[in-house]
Amino acid sequence: MAGRGMMPEAPMADNFTVQVAADYEQMSELAADAVSAAIEANPATVLTLPTGETPRGMYHELVSRIVDGRLDFSGVRFFCLDEYLGAAIDDEASLTGWLREVFLEPASIPAANTHLIPSTAAEPAAAAAAYDREIIDAGGFDLAVVGIGRNGHVAFNEPGSPPDSRTRVIDLTAASREQNAAYHDGRQMIPARAMTVGLGTILESRSIILIASGEGKADILRQALEGPITSDVPASHLRTAGARLRVIADAAAVSRLAG
Ligand code: GLP
Repeated sequence: MAGRGMMPEAPMADNFTVQVAADYEQMSELAADAVSAAIEANPATVLTLPTGETPRGMYHELVSRIVDGRLDFSGVRFFCLDEYLGAAIDDEASLTGWLREVFLEPASIPAANTHLIPSTAAEPAAAAAAYDREIIDAGGFDLAVVGIGRNGHVAFNEPGSPPDSRTRVIDLTAASREQNAAYHDGRQMIPARAMTVGLGTILESRSIILIASGEGKADILRQALEGPITSDVPASHLRTAGARLRVIADAAAVSRLAG
């Protein structure tokens, strides 16, 4: 499904590839295969992976490959993508805490190789700039795997985020807070702000994989991949990465693409 219709707004875009999986399990396996292949090609891969429901299966698969010794993650430099502002890793809503539970601990990822978003820093703006320097000092992301929010956000680059944005504090939309409260059965108060790696840093990655699953993502995936490239739908900017972008989505998520 490569080479879609040319958009006048983005003459260089749209030579990304879309890999359609039959279902969630296959999407998860394909995403894990892509991460594994990147690490096999470069054991010192600088990597960022998302949180959320979509990547759970991918993490499950990666953990089993690492635990079985089929994948050596020991040289990978791993950066977190986003976190609620003020959230510490032990807080119930913490995305980093979720990542620790689902991936970092079961896969025994060394803390020395893991860069956590400085979400509790006393001076968030300075800490965010320092986090960007850590990414630059590591050589930038070799591979960024990202999900897509129902409003088109990438990491926590909410609608309005410019394509050259960097790690920063951002106000969350009501839609994103509601979506994420649902993960906690509505019990959890979701903070009003987050710190997120910027779209600019994600777009500079040598390789970007966008994962999406389910009917609930079909509309926003269509807007992101076939609508105008606009900060109203931050994920649409991913298309400017051209051939560096690979979309791995299941049949339900691609069901509204024109083709
Ligand atoms: C979350 C995260 C994103 C994630 C997106 C989609 O809030 N900040 O990194 O990709 O929303 O989440 P899900 O996969 O649960 O739909």
